[in-house]
Amino acid sequence: MDFNLTEEQKMIQAAARDFAQTELLPGVVERDELAKFPTEQVKKMAELGFLGMMVDPKYGGSGMDTVSYVLVMTEIAKVDASAAVIMSVNNSLVCAGLEKYCNEAQKQKYLVPLAKGDIIGAFCLSEPNAGSDATSQKTTAIDKGDYYLLNGTKNWITNGSSASTYIVMAQTHPEKGHKGINAFIVEKGWNGFEIGPKEKKMGIRGSDTHSLLFNDVKVPKENRIGEDGFGFHFAMAVLNGGRIGIASQALGIATGAYELALKYSHVRQSFGKEIFQHQAIAFKLADMATQIMAAKMLCLKAASEKDAGMDITQSGAMAKLFASQTAMDVTVEAVQIHGGNGYVSEYHVERMMRDAKITQIYEGTSEIQKIVISRSLTV
Ligand code: CAA
Repeated sequence: MDFNLTEEQKMIQAAARDFAQTELLPGVVERDELAKFPTEQVKKMAELGFLGMMVDPKYGGSGMDTVSYVLVMTEIAKVDASAAVIMSVNNSLVCAGLEKYCNEAQKQKYLVPLAKGDIIGAFCLSEPNAGSDATSQKTTAIDKGDYYLLNGTKNWITNGSSASTYIVMAQTHPEKGHKGINAFIVEKGWNGFEIGPKEKKMGIRGSDTHSLLFNDVKVPKENRIGEDGFGFHFAMAVLNGGRIGIASQALGIATGAYELALKYSHVRQSFGKEIFQHQAIAFKLADMATQIMAAKMLCLKAASEKDAGMDITQSGAMAKLFASQTAMDVTVEAVQIHGGNGYVSEYHVERMMRDAKITQIYEGTSEIQKIVISRSLTV
């Protein structure tokens, strides 16, 4: 595998780094404190083509590869993990699913504005009693002839109130288990579609997470994605790719915290020398750098395999599992290296530690990744 970046990949990485430093960094502490959605910053991400990065330009996207997506996601998450998840859901879970599995009319109507970033999207699988166990979902969509009648509740939906287009999984034939699930495109504003209150979260507080309530929402037949009963396979396939996005977010959080800790270790003095000169600190940084390098290799491997058209079920899950553990380990150590300063918001690492935790939970917990990986192992 060749991990040398092309000139184009280096350019897009530099553009993302510049954007993160100039546009995301200045208000990131305040947005976290106030749980404020980065509206202006998301608009600029759209202008840069970051919201439909891998979508074919004929559908309004930037036509870039997955490796570039990993690089951009990492740079954004280094500074603002909330902006990164908004971007990741729109790219990996919404645009990628629409581009691969929707018909031409659905693409023209929904994918084009989403890929351009004129609007953003949300992916609605989880429910109050069905998070990891996605087959157990209870939302129903009953066939009424030329429309489906959608009823139920979805939980912890990223971009819950800021989205305009929602991909909603629902049971159309509950007796068939996962084979009775379908995926639908639902628009904000349809009768009976209500957005619940915003969740008060530990981390990624700049992203808006809501429950969604569907009460007799009429979904036109033409808004079903794929053949009848395709919804569970659709969700699983989309999540396989989504895990590369969240792995990159985790890698970015870890890298951001590590870079701050390394810098701090050369500025902060104790016992007459830079704290970097104490082996207790230098060894921590050595471990952090090593874990980050391994996480980066796994992210790039999964991205390269996706670009090569290979099955990324295993590599995506491995990247997510390892990178999210790395984000957690590295941010905890970054706070420790900062000592008392690590515990206050202006030094950023406490936010990063809170942000890191979600990467072990959403788009499949670490335990789910282990299920996915273990099922892919062969003798
Ligand atoms: N890729 C492709 N197909 C898969 C798959 C995968 N990773 N995992 C399962 N499937 C297929 C199986 O092959 C099987 O196919 P058949 O119908 O042909 O037999 C079918 O799906 C059912 O599989 P299982 O019997 O294995 O299903 P299960 O009930 O045991 O569950 C699971 C499998 C892997 C645990 C699955 O439920 C899962 O991935 N759960 C996690 C859900 C998740 O990630 N939720 C995150 C929500 S989205 C989010 O967080 C977004 C956000 O806002 C940030």
